[in-house]
Amino acid sequence: MGRERQTDRRGAGAVVPMSEIERRKNDHLDIVLAGEGRARVGTGLDAVVFEHCALPEMSLDDVDLSAQLFGRRLSAPLLISSMTGGPLRADSINIHLAQAAQHLGIAFAVGSQRVAVEGASACGLSRGLRAHAPSAVILANFGAAQLNAGWGLEHARRVVDMIAADALIIHLNALQEAVQPGGDRDWSGLVGRLEAVVRHVGVPVIVKEVGAGISGRVARRLADIGIAAVDVAGAGGTSWAAVESARARGRAARVAATFAGWGIPTAQAIADVRRTCPALTLIGSGGIKSGLDVARALRLGADLVGQAAGVLEAALASTEAVVEHFETISQELRIACFCTGSRTIAELKRAPLVQAPPGAEVDGHAG
Ligand SMILES: Cc1cc2nc3c(=O)[nH]c(=O)nc-3n(C[C@H](O)[C@H](O)[C@H](O)COP(=O)(O)O)c2cc1C
Repeated sequence: MGRERQTDRRGAGAVVPMSEIERRKNDHLDIVLAGEGRARVGTGLDAVVFEHCALPEMSLDDVDLSAQLFGRRLSAPLLISSMTGGPLRADSINIHLAQAAQHLGIAFAVGSQRVAVEGASACGLSRGLRAHAPSAVILANFGAAQLNAGWGLEHARRVVDMIAADALIIHLNALQEAVQPGGDRDWSGLVGRLEAVVRHVGVPVIVKEVGAGISGRVARRLADIGIAAVDVAGAGGTSWAAVESARARGRAARVAATFAGWGIPTAQAIADVRRTCPALTLIGSGGIKSGLDVARALRLGADLVGQAAGVLEAALASTEAVVEHFETISQELRIACFCTGSRTIAELKRAPLVQAPPGAEVDGHAG
């Protein structure tokens, strides 16, 4: 991977040495911030309509949003989903997100640690990050495709150790790799390599998509090799085909644009995985815009709900902006609980619906 001098895509004036992969990550941030990376398909979450409870018989302050992940208590069922930054901005993004996760008591997943492991740039991913969030649940991250490019158990342990993570996320991004010039195209034999990591890495492993969704069928296969949780990262929010089409030129741009509406919408993916794997810890994400979307995802069967692009602007600004962002989401979630007469997240998950979207029951839990 050759290193060359290159400016930030926004032409901010800073001249820093950037490798191809770092430059790509930097472009991704700008494309998402400009709103050019959105899927040409909806999440399906709008179809989840709660039955309004006109008489909640409780105080709004009685609502308990607390949740658990791998035996750890969270103040709300929220996850800051993985985002990589590129060297110019990753440091401050990660510090803001870590400090906010600590303050709020919610979980925080870092972006891919590949660049940091391969030594090109630390991107703020070190034990120093843990010092900003000493008691937060922090999740490490790398791409499954790396397991076909020489990575194995030792690399997995390094990414966990690098940030003293509580669990490891391995992401599946086959569509992105397929449409990205120079992407990793060989995904054969990955399940066996994944299993070797899952069985021996020593922390719970979460497998996630990046915006195209995980089906019940794939989740079942993953549950069978011992993963601890699935994050569906469904379609309707960030689309890596849309992102890559904004970045590419010529044929590559056209091919990527063709798939900007591809994927399993978030609502459908959550309901399908919950139906297929009733006992598996399930993270719902992909296009989450508000605390009401969080409530809808929980009602479909998610245990925890994640958001990436929606918090990116705040993540670039400051720790306080991230805190404010998630306090707003929590307030919306609390009101959804109140107006369904739900004192806890467990009760919200059984709250009656006015009409059932595919996979959800009107009364009682979708699973
Ligand atoms: C700028 C950016 C960088 C991302 N980098 C990663 C990454 O390194 N690893 C990963 O697993 N997912 C990554 N994602 C995917 C998100 O974690 C998430 O699954 C996806 O964006 C869908 O959620 P959203 O619609 O809320 O953005 C990234 C997303 C964004 C917006």
